[in-house]
Amino acid sequence: MDIGAYHVLELQIASDPVDRRRCMPAIRSEHRRILDVGCGAGQTLIASRLGADVTAVGIDCDERALSLGRQLNPGIRLIRARGESLPLASGFFDLAISRVALPYMRTDAALAEMARVLRAGGDLWIVLHPFSMVWDELKASLARRRWRTALHRAYALANGAALHLTGRQIPAPVRGKDRSFQTEARIVRMLQSLGFDNIRVERRRFFVVTATKRAACCNRARAGHFSWPARHSRCRRPPPCSTRPWTKRAW
Ligand SMILES: C[S@@+](CC[C@H](N)C(=O)[O-])C[C@H]1O[C@@H](n2cnc3c(N)ncnc32)[C@H](O)[C@@H]1O
Repeated sequence: MDIGAYHVLELQIASDPVDRRRCMPAIRSEHRRILDVGCGAGQTLIASRLGADVTAVGIDCDERALSLGRQLNPGIRLIRARGESLPLASGFFDLAISRVALPYMRTDAALAEMARVLRAGGDLWIVLHPFSMVWDELKASLARRRWRTALHRAYALANGAALHLTGRQIPAPVRGKDRSFQTEARIVRMLQSLGFDNIRVERRRFFVVTATKRAACCNRARAGHFSWPARHSRCRRPPPCSTRPWTKRAW
């Protein structure tokens, strides 16, 4: 399917409350600053029909998707960037979401960035790919003799297994072609080590994980630099305060 058509279809699904494929975050009144990582054309933000007082920012590496999104809704700030390196201020957002986009990124790095830009007490909502989904794709591509796709899905399975067992991923053979599946056990461990609690997992065709960044957690802490609870003792400065989340860091 053409990439533009995919994003428009997903927008239609997200906008239709009775569509069984619909999978949307619960947005509450305290979520005034919302980030969508791997937003595509911003379909999840657009379909959420946010109030004019909400700051909504979408990040994606695909400029064509972002251009489409700017036409669909000029009110949402769409920025070209990689999820693994967000050009955004730490501790700014009340809610960070990512719908079926982390499986195409270096999941560990992208999750660490989402943790960094969330304020203490901020919420996370992510939609991930289970093993069964990538396995089914591999079988389908083999049945259709699509060897390149099959090879890529075999890499995704190996990558997902590496992520599950070690918490690290195998570098993509081609830049920008990362792919993996995620497991509940590993994602929960990663989120705990990034300072999240209240972690909940809901199993559907995809699986949906929600979590809350611990209050009083240092907003500048990045994964691996130092682990919870050492963050409290090592970082005493309050989170930076800004009304503009984006920084000049280039993509
Ligand atoms: C399956 S689409 C999901 C789009 C949208 N979130 C949705 O729910 O329909 C995955 C998106 O992730 C983006 N993406 C993949 N790798 C990325 C990366 N490393 N950084 C930022 N965006 C990325 C793709 O360009 C694509 O728009």
